[in-house]
Amino acid sequence: MKILAIETTCDETSAAVLEDGRLLSNYVHTQIPLHSAYNGVVPELASRAHLEKMPYVLKKALAVAGINEYSKNCVDAVAFSRGPGLPGSLMVGRVASETAAELAGVPLIGVNHLEGHLLACEFENGRIAHPLQFPLIGLLVSGGHTEMWLVRDYGDYRIIGRTRDDAAGEAFDKVAKLLKLPYPGGPEVERLASEAAGEGPRFPRPYMKGTWEFSFSGLKTSVSYYLQKNPQPDINEKRLICRAFQDAVIETLVRKVSEAAEHFGVKRVAIGGGVSANSALRRAFSMLKDLEIRFSEKQYCSDNAAMITLCALRRIQAGRWKNSIKADPVLENASWRVK
Ligand code: KG4
Ligand code: ZN
Repeated sequence: MKILAIETTCDETSAAVLEDGRLLSNYVHTQIPLHSAYNGVVPELASRAHLEKMPYVLKKALAVAGINEYSKNCVDAVAFSRGPGLPGSLMVGRVASETAAELAGVPLIGVNHLEGHLLACEFENGRIAHPLQFPLIGLLVSGGHTEMWLVRDYGDYRIIGRTRDDAAGEAFDKVAKLLKLPYPGGPEVERLASEAAGEGPRFPRPYMKGTWEFSFSGLKTSVSYYLQKNPQPDINEKRLICRAFQDAVIETLVRKVSEAAEHFGVKRVAIGGGVSANSALRRAFSMLKDLEIRFSEKQYCSDNAAMITLCALRRIQAGRWKNSIKADPVLENASWRVK
């Protein structure tokens, strides 16, 4: 079975082809250079750039997959991220995938982008090497979302907690901006934190006791207050601030996930999304010896269409692909197996 998928939720235009558990292609065009001048994603520019790049990205993904003539039944299904994401960007993905499905005469399967980040943990070297085992706690940490899910099966996802304000990646990006570091901030903050040496500040851990929720905007404000008292930090001070901020985010995520795993009697955790590329975060979670922790390979942490092929595959295998194909910017419910 061959599945073509398209991903355009935010600032990556991507197309991928999966055949019998093997990725034939996964082409990602990132818009980071376009948005970095504005220190964040500009939605109108993002949708225009998706529109401009889509034909090239599609051609590239199909050619690498050996599909040189796009004709009836050259693939068995077309999938796309129908949300959550930027409205204009989602529309580009929707129209491109609908056209592709129509031309091939195959089903169009709209899926939840965050489910993609979860399932990306199954890939190794471009193959489905490690199917998830259930139940598990899913932690999705990206630029737009921070959510914890109780996952009992493919398609059976219960959101047990999410952020009340900033997503973890958003907090990384905002702190980077405060420190005048380039966009996107996550990788820069990680790099500086890894170079920190000596005593630095300590920021509060937003544990949100008694809830499964997160809140990272207060942490960002603590960094901002610290900078008001210590304006114009030199590079060494910036390193210490990055490490202190990163430690606070990581400790919070680790504590909340391990508490949730214990509460729900679950021994497995799968972590996905852009922030899960952070090496310090990976090390910290790997220290949890009584839990089996899964990450996606770094190449599949940020947005890509490979992970969207997997969402479609799992639905097809379960015979549950007849869902709505409308783009939905605030798409909440990732579940498709249960109501
Ligand atoms: O999943 P993703 O590529 O896009 C969304 O769906 O939002 O996540 C992007 C986010 C950005 O906020 C970026 O700064 C953050 O992931 N990020 C990181 C790292 N790499 C990317 N945050 C912390 N450490 C990293 N190494
Ligand atoms: Zn994402």
